[in-house]
Amino acid sequence: MRYNNILITGSAGFIGFHLCKRILDNYDDINIIGIDNLNNYYNPLLKEKRNDILKKYRNYTFIKLDFSEYLKLIESLNDKDIDLIVHLGAQPGVRYSLENPWAYERSNLLGTMNIFEFARRFNIEKIVYASSSSVYGGNKKIPFSEDDRTDNPVSLYASTKRSKELMAYTYHNLYGIGMTGLRFFTVYGEWGRPDMAYFKFAKNILLEKPIDVYNYGDMERDFTYVSDVIDGVISSIERDFNYEIFNLGNSRPVKLMYFIELLEKYLNKTAKKNFLPMQEGDVPRTYADLSKSREFLNYNPKVSIEEGLRRFCSWFVDNREWILKL
Ligand SMILES: NC(=O)c1ccc[n+]([C@@H]2O[C@H](COP(=O)([O-])OP(=O)(O)OC[C@H]3O[C@@H](n4cnc5c(N)ncnc54)[C@H](O)[C@@H]3O)[C@@H](O)[C@H]2O)c1
Repeated sequence: MRYNNILITGSAGFIGFHLCKRILDNYDDINIIGIDNLNNYYNPLLKEKRNDILKKYRNYTFIKLDFSEYLKLIESLNDKDIDLIVHLGAQPGVRYSLENPWAYERSNLLGTMNIFEFARRFNIEKIVYASSSSVYGGNKKIPFSEDDRTDNPVSLYASTKRSKELMAYTYHNLYGIGMTGLRFFTVYGEWGRPDMAYFKFAKNILLEKPIDVYNYGDMERDFTYVSDVIDGVISSIERDFNYEIFNLGNSRPVKLMYFIELLEKYLNKTAKKNFLPMQEGDVPRTYADLSKSREFLNYNPKVSIEEGLRRFCSWFVDNREWILKL
């Protein structure tokens, strides 16, 4: 890799942690500065545990920092060598954006602008940043392709993710920063996020509590195993583009009821299902068209839902003592 000093935002988050670990495990000559404010949107103990693993690496430096505070961002980073930014830090979650839209405005809009301004000020040539499949909103055409319209976001989370892509365009256009945006599709795996359905399902199944199954189970998600997503992020770091957006999904949507069956199988317990109508802001189906990412990133997801969920459940059960308390 031609970058030696990489700034990764949201490094204690689910995807940030996996990206840092992959780079640290494979490249001795790359220094990573990880920043994260370790906020309590979900239990920060999990963020600290991930971060403790990363802090053991000699070439990982962690700075606890809120990137929505521009002056603090500059103050903490102005003497650091940085040649690439991977911007993964964000306020995620569709549901919570109905309750606390300000968190999205702060981290995803102001925070992203701060990261882009920082790059402009310190002449950083390239940024790889996280977007989301949620920008496709209630797109009826499947699979979802990067060329599809994305001007009907159905949640504030989605509109902040789309805004990020638009801001990235502006910073590319004005200052020539190389901008690669990655639309992730429901990423799951070990060290995952406790606010996401699959994690809540696993927890409740083990605790023998009911699970909430929305739209009466009639949903499909293009679940993507985290190591496949990390392959795509690494390819995006290794290749130079002016301004591009890529889908990073699995392109094999899974019916929610089959997903639950697999969890039941690997956790060896039957779920008590609480069938509910569709949640506001949610979409019934996601499905990634991967032709562009296959062509330009050589992206080729490998882990099947059966294998990915088997690995996730085995991690979950091995760590159940502290995970069940999250
Ligand atoms: N996991 C998915 O399925 C998924 C799907 C689509 C898009 N994404 C996007 O991928 C990125 C990573 O998601 P994740 O699943 O790892 O989420 P995560 O919540 O586990 O990680 C995000 C991290 O960013 C940090 N953060 C948030 N606001 C911050 C701020 N103002 N300053 C510093 N740190 C801040 C959080 O503390 C957290 O550790 C996000 O941009 C998310 O929107 C994720």
